[in-house]
Amino acid sequence: MPIKYELIKKDKYSNARTGIIHTEHGDIPTPIFMPVGTKASVKAMTVEELKEIDAKIILGNTYHLYLKPGMDIMKKAGGLHKFMNWNRPILTDSGGFQVFSLSEMRDISEDGVVFRSHIDGSKHLFTPEKSIEIQNDIHSDIMMSFDECIPYPVDHDYVERSVYRTIRWAKRGLDYHKSNSHKDQSLFGIIQGGMYEDLRKISVEETCAMDFDGYSIGGLSVGEPKEEMIRLLRYTTPLLPEDKPRYNMGVGSPDFLFESFETGIDMADCVLPTRIARNGTAITSHGRLVVRNALYKEDFSPLDHECDCYVCKNYSRAYIRHLVNVNEILGARLLTYHNLYFLLKMCENIRKAIMEDRFLEYKKEFYTKYGYDS
Ligand code: GUN
Ligand code: ZN
Repeated sequence: MPIKYELIKKDKYSNARTGIIHTEHGDIPTPIFMPVGTKASVKAMTVEELKEIDAKIILGNTYHLYLKPGMDIMKKAGGLHKFMNWNRPILTDSGGFQVFSLSEMRDISEDGVVFRSHIDGSKHLFTPEKSIEIQNDIHSDIMMSFDECIPYPVDHDYVERSVYRTIRWAKRGLDYHKSNSHKDQSLFGIIQGGMYEDLRKISVEETCAMDFDGYSIGGLSVGEPKEEMIRLLRYTTPLLPEDKPRYNMGVGSPDFLFESFETGIDMADCVLPTRIARNGTAITSHGRLVVRNALYKEDFSPLDHECDCYVCKNYSRAYIRHLVNVNEILGARLLTYHNLYFLLKMCENIRKAIMEDRFLEYKKEFYTKYGYDS
């Protein structure tokens, strides 16, 4: 069975909404943050720990998994759920973003993209059909269409040609998906259009005319100013159909999550919480805390006084700072655990706030404490 979106409640004073995405591997309450497990692992976390912090869904990446371990092993393992022992939902990105940001060389044509692996320089071709075929082998619950993610800034002419190609690619991927036997998997279309509202509108109209199971907003958080991202989100999200889930790709700082959810986004992902954890930074209710700093040398209080996660209950800033400073991997593990817990808890609070028409109040309260301008 493909996924099914159930809208539960719309916030009275914003476009925020809460609902449930029903999948064969369990329900996903929305709005939700999705931890990123690019190479079949959410870096530094076991699946037991992911369940302990109650992660509802994680991401995998077509580009990385295709290159390593490769689809032969993926098929023999029986898909990514079995390979990594994770029995909750998995969403895979199509490779459309990674091919453009990571591979050595790429040659875009109507057919697809020829690229060289960033690992060994070997040459490969991704087409919209091939991307779905790989995602079929990974057997994710939610697949993404193969798209071109345009960098920032790019002129209107190029973006226009690119948007129409991404629309044609979306159609090819969907046709391929409909003609094969993986009906238990779902497929999302991706909206592009750079920083241009007229192109975003075309992208929405053409992509939503096709029967996808949900819609993603791509091409944001690619280096544009924050106000630009917010402008395009506020413009684009409300154009999407209300009865399907909406996913803003690649955002994960608390403010970007609030701004996205405020426009009616249901899902988001980013490497940010796990990446900054490995740099020695915690996300706390009072802002980012660079625990590496000498400031915390003798600070025996928890990372976040208001957090009730396993790490905050048991370890101090001074201890975690020490671990980070002497390069003990436990430091990265504890910070990752806390950062993901923090964002998941924040999403839970957001869902509660929407149920009580308090989204904007909760946002204001959070921003004030965190130190963001609201
Ligand atoms: N991840 C972040 N942005 C994008 C995007 O525009 N396209 C895809 N496929 N993945 C993304
Ligand atoms: Zn904590």
